[in-house]
Amino acid sequence: MAGRIPKQFIDELIGRTDIVDLIGTRIQLKKAGREYKACCPFHDEKTPSFTVSQAKQFYHCFGCNAHGTALGFIMEYDRLEFVEAVETLAASMGMEVPHESGPSAPRRDPDLYPLLADAENFFRQQLKTNDRAVAYLKKRGLSGETAARFGIGYAADSWDELLKELGTDGKARERLVLAGLVIEKEQNKVYDRFRDRIMFPIRDSRGRCIGFGGRVLDKGEPKYLNSPETSLFHKGSELYGLYEARQENRDLARLIVVEGYMDVVGLAQHGICNAVATLGTATTNAHLRRLFQASEEVVFCFDGDRAGRAAAWRALENALPQTGGGHQLRFLFLPDGQDPDSLVRESGAETFASYMAQAETLSEYLIRHLGEQVDMSKLDGKARFAELARPLLRQIPAGAFRELLANEVAELAGAGDRLARQLAEDGDRPKRVPQRSRSSGRGDLVRQAVTTLLRYPAVAAHAGDTGWLLEMDGEGCRILRMLLEDALQNPDITTAMLLERHRDDDQSAALMKLAAAESLVDEEEAIAEFRDTLSILSRQSAANRLDTLLDTARKNELSADEKAELKDLLASRQSAGVAVDG
Ligand code: UTP
Ligand code: MN
Repeated sequence: MAGRIPKQFIDELIGRTDIVDLIGTRIQLKKAGREYKACCPFHDEKTPSFTVSQAKQFYHCFGCNAHGTALGFIMEYDRLEFVEAVETLAASMGMEVPHESGPSAPRRDPDLYPLLADAENFFRQQLKTNDRAVAYLKKRGLSGETAARFGIGYAADSWDELLKELGTDGKARERLVLAGLVIEKEQNKVYDRFRDRIMFPIRDSRGRCIGFGGRVLDKGEPKYLNSPETSLFHKGSELYGLYEARQENRDLARLIVVEGYMDVVGLAQHGICNAVATLGTATTNAHLRRLFQASEEVVFCFDGDRAGRAAAWRALENALPQTGGGHQLRFLFLPDGQDPDSLVRESGAETFASYMAQAETLSEYLIRHLGEQVDMSKLDGKARFAELARPLLRQIPAGAFRELLANEVAELAGAGDRLARQLAEDGDRPKRVPQRSRSSGRGDLVRQAVTTLLRYPAVAAHAGDTGWLLEMDGEGCRILRMLLEDALQNPDITTAMLLERHRDDDQSAALMKLAAAESLVDEEEAIAEFRDTLSILSRQSAANRLDTLLDTARKNELSADEKAELKDLLASRQSAGVAVDG
């Protein structure tokens, strides 16, 4: 039910509410230092242990451990369900609650469709007259027919070629800006966004152009430039090539999800016309919904390098809540250094098809990946294997698929039906607080970073480069990534907004608990602490990676990429002068 109210509305609602005012209208609060106190409304007491924090927009009782956000308070105090609580709070502020299908859906600006179509045509004309661009496409093995099927064009090496053509008056220029085709620097200072690039039109399900991806011809940054978010174009939910794939074949038995524009087009050039690409983002839930709507079977295709493997695992984690509904989800890893475009061009469609036939099912991949993290020949390893599988199984909707997978996990762990049943049922039980990792203290560090970030979301801006975090597995790291992303996107986000955004998350209760704990540091100290924690974690992650690579090196199995990576890691260890102890 809760899902029907858009997240942005909850954000806004929480952002506009002051929890002190809200609770103050229901019970009497007294100021005590930076917080407010009262006798707890949720248990009997004589001395006040109920506190409300204005900074965190969060309440907490040290007596009975009740805690939560403004919405949580209304739910508890007024005994309401989530949606009713949202409605109560919204009404008290004169706001109307939108519903996802209702008036809240962002309004598309229909005027922009013909404009984008004109731009597409213009780029296609430009391609015809530019020998360099044509030669580039030829060099990449594309025929004129394939280029035409995808509407590929060329944006000239000029600041105003498109402007001159389509920006004939002020009104037209304004619409070019809204369509993301032209950039407005200052008032009345506008120029073409795409210059000297091969243009790939991105289409919606009806085939209308809603944006572009543009690739440089030679070297240059960024390699691909996408349209910005506009009223028509939302990068996180579009799939490049889906319309073209459906044109080829209305009943797509299978869709292949690849990483890039050129992969989609390159495969089509070789007769493989059912590939789609996300637009430089990880696969989102919106993508998954669209993929499953369009086809029974979805095969994720990843590069064989480390980034590809990390992306694959993230895609798996993301997909778990949407599995079990009769759709097949499979994972294909290409040889290191190859992408679908290069593979099909060098080895042909048949070779690609033979790789495709070897794609792992979701459960095969899940079991293999977890098995690689532990030593399955030892009892401890098997136990750890089952523990690693547990939170993943919990994400799968209850049903046959979850039960079968739980059985298999239990069997591989050498345990009996009891564990299988426990694993299969876990998801229906009340949520548990995550267990502390006892091994390296990494769990504690991650927990500390999450806690700091929750209490002082502004520390996110001081996180520095967190690319390494993408490679780290585990629930804690997932949460840390998720909160960091939220906090970076919205510098004004509060503790309560973060908590409300993830109310439906498996770890929501655990997050509330972390947010409730008393804060011993101020924001400045929190920043320093956060930086330190992340830097220890990143060093640990590098050290772990180094161990793995050294291990592979001993077996003489390093790829060229891995060799380079190992060299880098060793060099940075030397220059940092730190002893790495794994
Ligand atoms: P890749 O860098 O793997 O390129 O980006 P590619 O698809 O192999 O491209 P070619 O073969 O060199 O032409 C994969 C995808 O990531 C997004 C694009 O969607 C691209 O297709 N991307 C990449 C960007 O959005 N911006 C970039 O600067 C790079
Ligand atoms: Mn490529």
